[in-house]
Amino acid sequence: MPLPETISLLDAGAGSGALTAALVRRVCHKRGPTRRIHVTAFEIDPALAQPLAQCMAECQRMCKAADVQFTADVQHTDFISAAVQIVRRELFAAALPPFNVALANPPYRKIRSDSTHRLLLRSAGIETSNLYAGFLALIMRLLAPNGQLVSITPRSFCNSPYFRPFRTELLTSMTLQRLHTFVSRATVFRHDDVLQETVIMHAVKSAQPRATIWVSRSNGLAGHPLYEQALPSDTVICATGADRWIHIPEHEDILRAQGQCQRLPATLADLGLAVSTGRVVDFRARPWLRAEPGEATVPLIYPPNLHYGVIQWPNVSMRKPQVIQRCAETANLLIPSAVYVVVKRFTAKEERRRLVVALYEPWRIPAESVGFENHIFTPTVAGSNLRLPKGSRSS
Ligand SMILES: C[S@@+](CC[C@H](N)C(=O)[O-])C[C@H]1O[C@@H](n2cnc3c(N)ncnc32)[C@H](O)[C@@H]1O
Repeated sequence: MPLPETISLLDAGAGSGALTAALVRRVCHKRGPTRRIHVTAFEIDPALAQPLAQCMAECQRMCKAADVQFTADVQHTDFISAAVQIVRRELFAAALPPFNVALANPPYRKIRSDSTHRLLLRSAGIETSNLYAGFLALIMRLLAPNGQLVSITPRSFCNSPYFRPFRTELLTSMTLQRLHTFVSRATVFRHDDVLQETVIMHAVKSAQPRATIWVSRSNGLAGHPLYEQALPSDTVICATGADRWIHIPEHEDILRAQGQCQRLPATLADLGLAVSTGRVVDFRARPWLRAEPGEATVPLIYPPNLHYGVIQWPNVSMRKPQVIQRCAETANLLIPSAVYVVVKRFTAKEERRRLVVALYEPWRIPAESVGFENHIFTPTVAGSNLRLPKGSRSS
């Protein structure tokens, strides 16, 4: 998508200006239609005032050499409170120009429900528990129609239920152009303590649907190959009931698997099944955990007990207690011994197998009931856990 002739740029959480500098460099080197850049940068950390000012001076120099006009307005204030005032159209809010480009690598931090930022965002009708989504929601509102946003954030907003209101606003007011992910966190973010998976998003403020969305992937090192593909929008933006979520297929195998899933004749809900998390949170159940089986104890199954498709219990290489006392206090934590499909809830992107599944077969582990630890999923049916008819056996 071409850049406008006059760029009015918002850089919220500018740091030392790296994103503005990248855009300026591109404008100056590529010689497109842009003849003027005005940047409004927000940065709250006083320690970054000097490097940011230096960066703006360098941008000015680059632009001058390329015959592009450059002006900058650096605001050393809290972006959230300044932007909320504008979004709420408060009388004494500082005037900001309409932005047609926004760049953001906002702070990633949970915001407590009683924190100032949370209350400010709520006063502008934005409900989110993470600062980065608050930044993006405000930026989206400050953008002019057809304004472009490029953001670098964790990818949790794509499908987490916590980000549902943010996602709804994003997918209603913006059109996704491109999503870029990284093969591994270990290369591009190796110097930063980034544990979350990161996505770069390019979106345009427009309700005009697009037939395709570009999905790309790299290891983040300059000159290394880039996988990219334009996918039908409905392969990337999926809907489950009223919720829409973003699926970023990272290679052809995932697309193939997605196609196979879509061809399945029924969903879990059609079969009357739902999925529940294991009920035993081990540190809360500590008084009832036991190292060895004894009277009125039952197995407690952890993710390491899932072993090549079956449950290996006990797992002798595990140090954790794998037995739980059956008593009044644990009655709600245990479920009847039966056939269960159990799935690990968490696997790292770098692991070879992302989906780890095993069958709990009651005839291999004689017990009246069983506890599943909270890091695994088990299916439930009509409020109780799934059971196969008596006498049935897996093949
Ligand atoms: C993840 S860093 C990104 C810096 C820069 N944009 C980059 O990509 O290198 C986020 C920046 O936002 C700034 N920041 C955090 N909270 C802010 C707020 N409420 N208002 C303005 N800036 C904020 C931090 O000081 C930090 O420099």
